[in-house]
Order: sequence, then structure tokens, then C-alpha cells
Amino acid sequence: MFSQCSHNLKMTDNIVKKYNNYCRSSWGRRRSKLIYSQIKSKRKKYHRILDLGCGIGAVTHKFLNGQVEIFAIDRIPGMLNKFKKSISPKLKSKIYFKNKNVSSFLSSYRGEKFDLILCHNILDYIENKSDFLYLLHKVAKKRCVLSVVVMNLYAEIIRKARKGEWIKAIELNRSRRYHSNNFGEDITLYTPNEWLKIFEKTKWNIYKWSGVGIIDETLYKNEQKRSINSELKLSELYPYKEQAILIHFMCSNP
Ligand SMILES: C[S@@+](CC[C@H](N)C(=O)[O-])C[C@H]1O[C@@H](n2cnc3c(N)ncnc32)[C@H](O)[C@@H]1O
Repeated sequence: MFSQCSHNLKMTDNIVKKYNNYCRSSWGRRRSKLIYSQIKSKRKKYHRILDLGCGIGAVTHKFLNGQVEIFAIDRIPGMLNKFKKSISPKLKSKIYFKNKNVSSFLSSYRGEKFDLILCHNILDYIENKSDFLYLLHKVAKKRCVLSVVVMNLYAEIIRKARKGEWIKAIELNRSRRYHSNNFGEDITLYTPNEWLKIFEKTKWNIYKWSGVGIIDETLYKNEQKRSINSELKLSELYPYKEQAILIHFMCSNP
């Protein structure tokens, strides 16, 4: 895991730029919309929201209507600045921005608990996932909703195989190590089943999980075509969700 201090300013500027471009792309926008709609389908209103590794707030933005208090935590100051700049002054008072490591934020937090926790594309970067999920539980209200988005090992192996990169696919299957180009970090990937097992050991109850990825198989065949035409879909159906690029776990604190 990288720490804030190990990144020079230029590097983090580059990370923020790349992530901003991703979030603004049609893929990025669709991803945020799909995830948001699933969270909203559980409950209409959330009053106290914790967004861990908020980035530029791509999903969080959508919760800014109505009476709400949001804690947005990220270790890269440039992400928080970009997030801040993107919201109107009258909405700014609804968000507390914290430039902190999420684990240290969670272990020192003593304030009012949360009724929604967003953990989107960050659990992949956390070394000890069970401890982290335990810490999350400590800041959650009863019946709190936890929305977790993670990467899927199967999807990356399939992606490489479809491109004809057989050696790379086999190597990834063996090592599970994946280099995140956007963040310049190596992370370990897990299969959907392994993720389910990680959650089983915690107090969180998964009530729904879905895959977020491309449904139309033919689009995989041509990377060029895929980046222009493909649309992200969200589905709870097998085998689609087993091989989707992202997995969305909806959990509750029983
Ligand atoms: C892939 S981005 C996801 C951003 C946002 N959650 C989204 O889904 O659009 C991961 C974010 O988590 C932040 N991050 C990763 N590990 C972190 C940590 N240990 N503490 C705080 N922020 C972290 C990164 O700085 C980055 O902004």
C-alpha cells in the first residue's frame, strides 16, 4: 500500500487526472449511475454517509440532495480538491473532507455512526480486509447499508485471454498480482467466491451482489470497438456476475 508521503506531487497530479478522465468517460459515468441506483433501491434516504477512498466523489455527488451529512475520506489531497471544486458553495457545508488514511480515520473515529458506508474500489487496496471490515462495523448504525465495489480476478484473466495474451493470463491466474495503471500500485485480485468468503468471516450480511461489466460478448472481441461502443450493465444473473469486471456487494448490519 502506498502512503501519501511516498507520492511526489507530480505523480499524484497524474493519478487525479487519470481518475478524473475515467470518471467522466461514458464507462465511468455509467458505473456511478448503476451503483447509485442499486443503493437507492434499498432505501430512499440516507442521512449520514461515510465515503471511504472517495476520490473525486463520482458516486457521492448523487447523494447531495436533501438533508444529508457526508464524510469524504481520501489520502490524496488532489482528489479531495477536485471533489470540492466540483460542488456548489451551498452544498459544500454538507460534506466534511478528511485527508487521511481510511484505516486511521476508522480507528480514531468517535462521532455519530453512519447509515450508509461507501467503499468503492478501495477494498482491493487494503491489506487486511477482515480487520478493515471489522472497523467498518464499529462505525455503522444498526441496519446501516454497506456498498462495496471490488475488482474480479476472473474478469482480468478472461480479458487477457480474449486478447490472446495467454502467458499473461496464466501468470495472472498463478500470481493474482495486478498492476493498477491509474494508481501505479500492485494489488492482489480475488474471485467472487473468495470475496464472499472474506465477508462470511465478518458481521456484515450480504443481501445482494451483482456484476458490473459488459453483457454483449461480441464486444470483447475488438478492444477498439469495445472502448467506443460498449455499455456497462449491472446484473445479478449467473454466469454474468461471475465474470463481470466489477462486483457490487450490498451488505447490511443486521
Ligand atoms: C479507485 S479510486 C476510487 C474512488 C471512488 N471511491 C470511486 O469509486 O470513484 C480509489 C481511491 O481510494 C483512495 N485510497 C486508496 N487507499 C486509501 C487509503 N488507505 N486511505 C485513504 N484513501 C485511499 C485513493 O487515493 C483513490 O482516490
